[in-house]
Amino acid sequence: MGTITVTAPAKVNLHLEVLGMRPDGFHELAMVMQSIELVDRLHFTNTADAQLTLECDVPSLSIAGDNLVLMSAELLRERSGFSELGASIQLEKNIPIGAGLAGGSSNGAAALVGLNALWGLGHSSAELEQMAAELGSDMPFCVAGGSQFCFGRGERLEPLPPCLEPLTVLLVKDPRVSVSTPWAYKRCRERNKDRYLEGEQAFEERRNALRQADWTRPLRAEAPPPLRNDLQSVVEPETDAVQIALRLLRTLEKPLAVAMSGSGPSCFALFRTPEQCQEAQAVLSDRFREVGLLSWCCPLRSDGVRIEA
Ligand code: C5P
Repeated sequence: MGTITVTAPAKVNLHLEVLGMRPDGFHELAMVMQSIELVDRLHFTNTADAQLTLECDVPSLSIAGDNLVLMSAELLRERSGFSELGASIQLEKNIPIGAGLAGGSSNGAAALVGLNALWGLGHSSAELEQMAAELGSDMPFCVAGGSQFCFGRGERLEPLPPCLEPLTVLLVKDPRVSVSTPWAYKRCRERNKDRYLEGEQAFEERRNALRQADWTRPLRAEAPPPLRNDLQSVVEPETDAVQIALRLLRTLEKPLAVAMSGSGPSCFALFRTPEQCQEAQAVLSDRFREVGLLSWCCPLRSDGVRIEA
């Protein structure tokens, strides 16, 4: 009866551009997603009793069938055709929930990768990414990880050529606040639909502009990367916690850029080195405590979910 441990990293969006609507009702996106060193850990134990059970050290998180870990496990088992497969899964949670950091998607991706290995199913990464896309728009990115362009709903990946390490993000999140992703996209549509692009040709032009942007610039000089998040302009005006976080991060001297991640409410400042990031965290630590923000220094990471040796 084996046990496998998998690390599941969070992500931030270095770029999130809403291009328009898709025929399936989702938004057509052009994003750059980046894995960071803030990880959950999942332990998978083979039970071979047709049961899939989940325990988590955070009581507020649902461990029922709506958790992406169990949805992923069910899908993988169903596709295998072996209904007697079973596993007990323990989730150690460090990534804040409902934060725009893809914590839930990353846990789901970890279940696909971990159980594929535990059950000896032999699926390739490409096959796992395809299953991941059926479960959530961010999930294929979480399987692959690192630095990726994410197009379509977010599930079409193209690796970003340069490695952006050693950039480090100072991440902040108010633990009392979460933002619903469907709400953020709905508000975006209400406010911006007149400016949405239409048609594949217009979408491809924007994708090409993103592909050609110079993502190595912040590694060579103290110059900001072309950072953008279209959901920020929708969420920020209606979410005090985002306004407070961005206001504090913008007082810092050295960040290359400051932005919200995904649909929020977590926000981050990007630094050239871990040392600059730690200095900034120390400078603001009292203010973070006063306003109730948690903070983390997270180096960028070059891969996604990973089976631990
Ligand atoms: O794919 P996922 O389940 O993560 O998406 C959550 C919600 O976010 C969707 O139901 C939809 O409301 C919104 N969304 C969107 N366009 C995308 C991705 C997500 O409108 N490309």
